[in-house]
Amino acid sequence: LLATTAFLAFGASAALAQTVGFSQIGSESGWRAAETTLTKQQAEERGITLKFSDAQQKQENQIAAIRSFIAQGVDAILLAPVVATGWDSVLEEARDAEIPVVLLDRRVDSDDSLYLTAVGSDLVHEGEVAGKWLVDQAAGEECRVVELQGTTGSSPAIDRKTGFEKGIAGADNIEIVRSQTGDFTRAQGKEVMESFLQAENGGKDICALYAHNDDMAVGAIQAIKEAGLKPGEDILIVSIDAVPDIFQAMSAGEANATVELTPNMAGPAFDALEAYLADGTEREVHSD
Ligand code: AHR
Repeated sequence: LLATTAFLAFGASAALAQTVGFSQIGSESGWRAAETTLTKQQAEERGITLKFSDAQQKQENQIAAIRSFIAQGVDAILLAPVVATGWDSVLEEARDAEIPVVLLDRRVDSDDSLYLTAVGSDLVHEGEVAGKWLVDQAAGEECRVVELQGTTGSSPAIDRKTGFEKGIAGADNIEIVRSQTGDFTRAQGKEVMESFLQAENGGKDICALYAHNDDMAVGAIQAIKEAGLKPGEDILIVSIDAVPDIFQAMSAGEANATVELTPNMAGPAFDALEAYLADGTEREVHSD
């Protein structure tokens, strides 16, 4: 878990954060629900009043929430940005109001002077770990892979794709034959997997599924079973997050591997925020 500081343009305040606005993406996955729960817990433990806003996976809802937090005069804002682009104006508004913004788990393409810090994981590395796992599993065999991508334009969808391609680079036996977004949801993971199965000889031509998160993999497992194939055997399954449902699938032999991502982004985020609000220090925060 990494937190980098890049915040230069705000004045420091003597007080610690009393009220923090949290613009959350939505509840598209088990991982996201865990992140929400942990953020609320962390705020409560630190005596911080958290104003929570669920954007239902829509950027316009997040922008409206941030504007409302600014109008309410919160001490700081946590933002888990659904997509990477389109944040400049609202981040400038927060900066002009001298309200520090901390990004959680996804990155934005804006200039890093527009936010205090970003707490997240190495998303490219996650994809690479998944790719390398498949290279080991499929050694010497022709392996046609289908890929379920996360939300289009989101940093995990972009980086996990890049990372996986890096992981399988040089393995000429492995080829991504189909790749489409399932928007990080179980329902769309199932729906898109159904279309992959249909297009690939009822699934017989698919060797492995790479899903950018566990929820889409769980949806796809259902589709594979309904197509009369055995997930985890006929089609290898690797995904990312390590939520309880994928462990259940793995212990039933219906999934093969997951790459763990901690949902506790808020702990390091509040640490960085409190350090900054206490004395204006920009610190690097590292957490396991
Ligand atoms: O940004 C992190 C990703 O967002 C998680 O891996 C996924 O489950 C969630 O929707």
